[in-house]
Amino acid sequence: QEDDFKKVISHAKEYGYVFQSSEIYDGLSAVYDYAQNGAELKKNIREYWWKAMVQLNENIVGIDAAIFMHPTTWKASGHVDAFSDPLIDNKDSKKRYRADVLVEDYVAKIEGKIEKEVDKAAKRFGDSFDKAQFLNTNQRVVEYQERATSILKRLGKSLENEDLDDVKRLIEELEIACPMSGSKNWTDVKQFNLMFGTKLGATTETAMDLYLRPETAQGIFVNFLNVQKTGRMKIPFGIAQTGKAFRNEIVARQFIFRMREFEQMEMQFFIKPGTQQEWYEKWKDMRMKWHLSLGMGEENYRFHDHEKLAHYADAAADIEFRFPFGFKELEGIHSRTDFDLSAHEKFSGKKLQYFDNDTRESYVPYVIETSIGLDRMFLAVFSKALQEEELENGTTRTVLRLPSVLAPNKAAVLPLVKKDGLPEVARKIIDDLKWDFNVTYDEKDAVGRRYRRQDANGTPFCITVDHQTLEDETVTIRHRDTMEQQRVAISELKGIIHQEVDM
Ligand code: GAP
Repeated sequence: QEDDFKKVISHAKEYGYVFQSSEIYDGLSAVYDYAQNGAELKKNIREYWWKAMVQLNENIVGIDAAIFMHPTTWKASGHVDAFSDPLIDNKDSKKRYRADVLVEDYVAKIEGKIEKEVDKAAKRFGDSFDKAQFLNTNQRVVEYQERATSILKRLGKSLENEDLDDVKRLIEELEIACPMSGSKNWTDVKQFNLMFGTKLGATTETAMDLYLRPETAQGIFVNFLNVQKTGRMKIPFGIAQTGKAFRNEIVARQFIFRMREFEQMEMQFFIKPGTQQEWYEKWKDMRMKWHLSLGMGEENYRFHDHEKLAHYADAAADIEFRFPFGFKELEGIHSRTDFDLSAHEKFSGKKLQYFDNDTRESYVPYVIETSIGLDRMFLAVFSKALQEEELENGTTRTVLRLPSVLAPNKAAVLPLVKKDGLPEVARKIIDDLKWDFNVTYDEKDAVGRRYRRQDANGTPFCITVDHQTLEDETVTIRHRDTMEQQRVAISELKGIIHQEVDM
């Protein structure tokens, strides 16, 4: 698993998808830049989402609100008071940990230790070794497992109840049961706010304290009435937006899974109070269908219904995806009640109500939210697409099986040789195709190597111009996934590619 993930990260760099930010200065932790191919993939994911949400739904419109918002926004939304993580410092190593992530580390360590015991025994017993039986009967392993599980269970509860003294005590117990840091010297667990502060204003005296938005959703709530009135929107209706969000994640790791600067794609669906259960289920269903439409395998998704709810929600579920490091949250669907709009009414003193023409009543709408991290979706798509396969001739091929609709380049045009007028014909084909798709030109190296390069880059089609092209205006078109080649007329190319890559 770890190796697979390392391959994903190095492939992303080698093929121009994701770079560490400010790399020449040794990088900035948990901040990444999207490179020439990554920017295209990210844009295509964003567009795929936008089309499904805004273009295909008559009652959903899109906006693009500012990252800076009036500071009272975050008082009203609850983020100033409640948007925090439990943190603990290790006094010896002087390292700071997010308590929940630290616990995950212990879990991994404990599992690793047990695996080691299993490996040792397997070597000793050879073919007759029965893993399940060993785990159930080996006294030392059973005791260790029981002890660890019991501590972890209690820790989970304490974290949920935000019983911070208990969390500290249990982390110390874990450290004794499963030494990891080699130190017992922990500080108390404290809640730390995750918002980044900044200042707005010309002089120090007049400058105003601001936050960089930790979610895009509030830009939608504060614009709710403006959009509803100017767009003459009738409930139920939705407002969507995509944009940057910022969180001072303490343990930010796992590549672009958890970043300090990231992008969200969010939609707030405004509904009549009392209909939230129905709409919550509908949106769970619709969002799952969107994911499945990309064809990355039903078995790689699952719902996780929350027991512990965020400060704004009366029901919440995650869509989890099988990342290289296991099932993890990809998207959240939240029933936010009238929490946000009511709070903004209170803090702003402005009415944020919807007037229902049919019943002649005004009310504060309820909200179902769908919220997905664009970078996380990128990681899901990219990591699932990266495959190594054995070919019949015994060699292996690295292929990035991106859904064609998302691939940065849809086709590469390759002249078989760099002479006899073939490059000129290839350029002409590109000039014709480039108005419809991103296409790239490649003439370097033998054509087989160029195919492999495009496979690793995720390009769905390679179009090869050869000497026959000069005679009959046909080319070969090679499919990335099957490696099959067809001879087709140049005039057919556009249709073939459209059919494969259109949404
Ligand atoms: N408006 C609701 C909200 O922000 P969230 O569960 O905190 O809910 C929604 O975030 C989604 O944003 C997550 O499911 C995840 O995909 C993405 N996300 C959150 N924090 C992130 C981070 N630090 N880095 C990358 N993506 C993140």
